[in-house]
Amino acid sequence: MKMTDNTVLITGGTSGIGRALAEAFHDRGNRVIVTGRRQDLLADVADRRPGITGICLDLNAPHSLARVAEYVINRFPNLNVLIANAGISRTEDITADDWNLAEAEAIVETNILGVLRTVAAFLPIIKQQPAATIMATGSALAFLPRAEFPAYCASKAFLHSWLISLRHQLRNLPIDVLELAPPYVQTELTGASQAADPRAMPLASYISQVMVMLEQGRHPRGELLLEQDQARRWAERDGTYDRIFAAMNPA
Ligand SMILES: NC(=O)c1ccc[n+]([C@@H]2O[C@H](COP(=O)([O-])OP(=O)(O)OC[C@H]3O[C@@H](n4cnc5c(N)ncnc54)[C@H](OP(=O)(O)O)[C@@H]3O)[C@@H](O)[C@H]2O)c1
Repeated sequence: MKMTDNTVLITGGTSGIGRALAEAFHDRGNRVIVTGRRQDLLADVADRRPGITGICLDLNAPHSLARVAEYVINRFPNLNVLIANAGISRTEDITADDWNLAEAEAIVETNILGVLRTVAAFLPIIKQQPAATIMATGSALAFLPRAEFPAYCASKAFLHSWLISLRHQLRNLPIDVLELAPPYVQTELTGASQAADPRAMPLASYISQVMVMLEQGRHPRGELLLEQDQARRWAERDGTYDRIFAAMNPA
């Protein structure tokens, strides 16, 4: 994709990967719109970066999305890059007596329906552009799950498959469909401790690698996956699935 002079909308742009991507695109001379629910953070992004527009959007409220989409389409008719990045992650202990579907339902609602609703809301305007990109944030865990996060990993596996079909269906239009599949990164996705976890990749380092991959068009099959995650991506093909699963999920 071209890296400058785009109009980019990023869901989940109030923190973490979405916010860092917003700043990186803004640095490269793009108009950037970020969305999220936390008003204070939306104001903070816009204050620190005049030129980034913050818009309140709860993806679990379809009316909110319809209203925001109408506003964005009117105010930013050149919108040509859509990054469906918002997501949540929770552990679930299915063996617990009080286990129920509440966490799984929330994950399906945000990580799956949230992405589908975002694409549905903005596809009409994206289709009008001479060159466009739709990117959604999946996870390296789409390819091999960490069993403490059953619905989360499955939601990202869903996105992986759905994006393949979307890419195929849009193949005759000038729309790139990309899957951003991050490793474990220092954000507050699972809580404050993740942002300081030395086992997680520093956010700035991850985002700078992503921007280089985008600049160089280094995303085979539309997948933006770091070298370190290729073994998981191809574990089934390589006959290493059980071994890597066991290493990731000690008995
Ligand atoms: N960090 C990692 O290790 C990692 C690894 C693989 C994949 N990912 C994926 O990366 C994406 C971003 O996560 P992150 O790590 O940057 O964590 P994060 O800082 O918690 O960001 C999540 C973003 O999603 C937004 N969001 C959540 N629920 C929403 C809803 N109902 N409506 C609108 N926005 C909502 C949040 O904004 P508000 O709270 O303001 O609404 C926030 O901006 C997620 O899809 C995550 O699954 C992260």
